[in-house]
Amino acid sequence: MSEGLVTAAYIGAILLFILTLGGLSNQETARKGNYYGMVGMTLAILATIFGPEVSSNLPIIITTMVIGGAIGLFLAKKVEMTQMPELVAILHSLVGMAAVLVGYVNFMGESSLIGVEKSIHEVEIYIGVLIGAITFSGSVIAFCKLSGKMGGSPLMLPARHWLNLGLLIAVIYFGYDFVHQGHMVDGNPMLPLMIMTGIALIFGIHMVMAIGGADMPVVVSMLNSYSGWAASATGFMLGNDLLIVVGALVGSSGAILSFIMCRAMNRNFISVIAGGFGTDTGGSSSGNGEVVDQGEVIPIDTDEVAALLADAKEVMIIPGYGMAVAQAQHTVNEITKVLRGKKVNVRFGIHPVAGRMPGHMNVLLAEARVPYDVVYEMDEINDDFPDIDVSIIIGANDIVNPSAQTDPNSPIAGMPVMECWKGKTTIVLKRGMATGYAGVQNPLFFLENTRMYFGDAKESLDAVLKEIL
Ligand code: TAP
Repeated sequence: MSEGLVTAAYIGAILLFILTLGGLSNQETARKGNYYGMVGMTLAILATIFGPEVSSNLPIIITTMVIGGAIGLFLAKKVEMTQMPELVAILHSLVGMAAVLVGYVNFMGESSLIGVEKSIHEVEIYIGVLIGAITFSGSVIAFCKLSGKMGGSPLMLPARHWLNLGLLIAVIYFGYDFVHQGHMVDGNPMLPLMIMTGIALIFGIHMVMAIGGADMPVVVSMLNSYSGWAASATGFMLGNDLLIVVGALVGSSGAILSFIMCRAMNRNFISVIAGGFGTDTGGSSSGNGEVVDQGEVIPIDTDEVAALLADAKEVMIIPGYGMAVAQAQHTVNEITKVLRGKKVNVRFGIHPVAGRMPGHMNVLLAEARVPYDVVYEMDEINDDFPDIDVSIIIGANDIVNPSAQTDPNSPIAGMPVMECWKGKTTIVLKRGMATGYAGVQNPLFFLENTRMYFGDAKESLDAVLKEIL
């Protein structure tokens, strides 16, 4: 393949990746967005391996691609939707590791560069290895935390900010030493590079260890951004324009997503990164450790739920993590169809951090073929609750917790929540009185207009469906 053809293929791939991001921003176009991404990636891979840069070793490249592709296919088929964040985290670690390895190979390979150009190339290698190593070790820790192999509580070392500052100063010093040694006849630049790699690995571990469970979604998206910048740095090292652009797209979109998630959880991005939030409190506490007596809950049975729905004109369904666990989305769709057939106005309210990953609920509802035009973002419908007859909360907890507005000591204080308690009746489907992700009790369950419908969400909704048919 000639160089001109490769450039044309790269430009085509870049355009397809931009269309992918555009497509993924809306659930109606998300499927198309995925197709653009697949075609773009195929084009990019083919142009790279048949391009002039890779003239030999084709059998090795194809064999390793087949092995890697088979492992990827197996994992993607096996993974549960709820395990997606941990899969994403471990995949980011591979991008980080690739950036480190490419950096070392580039450094050890022959180079004809001299003077300023040589220095620039060395800085590219140094930064690429630095970002790659932080991404690698940080992602491995994020994977261990998300998969429960490691506790979720933040590790709060004394003077941890000073430790981070010390590591940063050491990285800058060894960067200077690396470039300096590279220009000396008997210099040994490998030593500062290796020391910095060790420091970066420790920094990545320390950074993610200091972040508590409740902030992990932001961390995954932040690591996603880092992995993009690591790929971009690799592109600079290899002189590959496609990798530079794609890395920058991933890096900036990951940063924007982190920012959006911080806003949705009312968290300051800097304080998330600084760590220390989101301990595993659990139990019936107010969030500041105090156990609070919230009174009695009012349970409800299937007949009563069906009766409430039969009288309702306006119904709002708020799905949460428990709907994903119970895989209740198909029954939810059936119930929606039946109620709409009876001229009930059924709408869905989606909180931006409902579930365990961005867009989690939208994906499940789309899979069950719930029509898009009845699915609303929180901001679009939060003012409508006073007109709602019945709100059905399916396995959601933190996102409907009024203490986010009323208790300044709560770990979720200030997080925007769905104000379902302003409606006539709220029915909460969950198995028991366990807390949600943030580990805080929910005063909603004890309100006079709330009814607790205990049980697995799928089984409960199946029973309701039979009753209202
Ligand atoms: P949660 O607050 O985690 O509450 C889920 C509730 O579902 C639990 O209280 C649980 O109660 C119930 N449940 C679990 N399995 C169930 C089943 N089979 N049937 C019925 N109920 C079941 O979920 P949420 O309201 O969706 O809030 C999301 C939380 O996760 C937020 O704190 C958010 O910050 C955090 N988070 C979000 C993301 C993203 S990006 N979406 C990523 C990571 C973390 P029982 O055990 O009593 O049934």
